Amino acid sequence: MTPERDAAEVGVAEAMRTTAATREFTDRVVDAATLQRILDAARFAPSGGNRQPWTVLVVEDRALRARIAELAQAGWNEYVGYLGAGLVPFAVGEDGLWPDPPRIDLAAAAAAAAPSPLIDGLVDAPALLLVLADLTALAVLDGGIGRHSIVGGGSVYPFVQNLLLAARAEGLGGVMTTFLCRREAEAREVLGFPDHVGIAAMVVLGEPVKPVTRLRRRPVEAFARLDRWDGEPFRA
Ligand SMILES: Cc1cc2nc3c(=O)[nH]c(=O)nc-3n(C[C@H](O)[C@H](O)[C@H](O)COP(=O)(O)O)c2cc1C
Repeated sequence: MTPERDAAEVGVAEAMRTTAATREFTDRVVDAATLQRILDAARFAPSGGNRQPWTVLVVEDRALRARIAELAQAGWNEYVGYLGAGLVPFAVGEDGLWPDPPRIDLAAAAAAAAPSPLIDGLVDAPALLLVLADLTALAVLDGGIGRHSIVGGGSVYPFVQNLLLAARAEGLGGVMTTFLCRREAEAREVLGFPDHVGIAAMVVLGEPVKPVTRLRRRPVEAFARLDRWDGEPFRA
């Protein structure tokens, strides 16, 4: 299927079912006009109070990309360290809080290089977007209730998903990643964003090497329940 035909034929429901995480890309260039269209579609995402806290850095400079790749690699290494220990990477405890001390030796994990085709290809990736969020513009309704916030990120991740859906409509694929968040302070130095701004995601876009395959997700009855936590599975 050509990208053009793909874009023309994929409706919203189909796009939601087939927008996979794509980490390997062909050499097809993603030009500025395409990125402009993707950003222009994604901007209609919802956000708390419609504050639209996102800023997108379209990173083209190869030296900057190389530095970002180095920083992202550390986060990936940590992730792999958790997996190696048989743990859910970066999970909080049952109290909803970040375990202190962390469950693995993060410094040791970061130092143990783990291969990642995505990071290895970052300098040459067709498009690299960093989605930053103004923390002072997030509506954190679950702030101060004694656990990590879920709601805070909700003002920016619909925008990130829109980026991926808009890319899909252009016949492109991509992945949202968060491993750069593990080195946010260093990234702030490199990219010059202020303290009240954080990294929500690093998004890599391009033409997928492999065709879209069926996504593996839990069926509705596995996550929807009637009335209460201990209710019956919800069914039509
Ligand atoms: C909040 C969030 C964080 C993610 N972080 C990363 C990441 O750091 N690196 C990565 O390769 N993929 C990352 N992903 C992509 C997920 O691995 C991917 O969405 C998931 O495995 C489903 O993949 P599929 O759509 O191809 O089935 C992230 C996705 C989300 C929603």
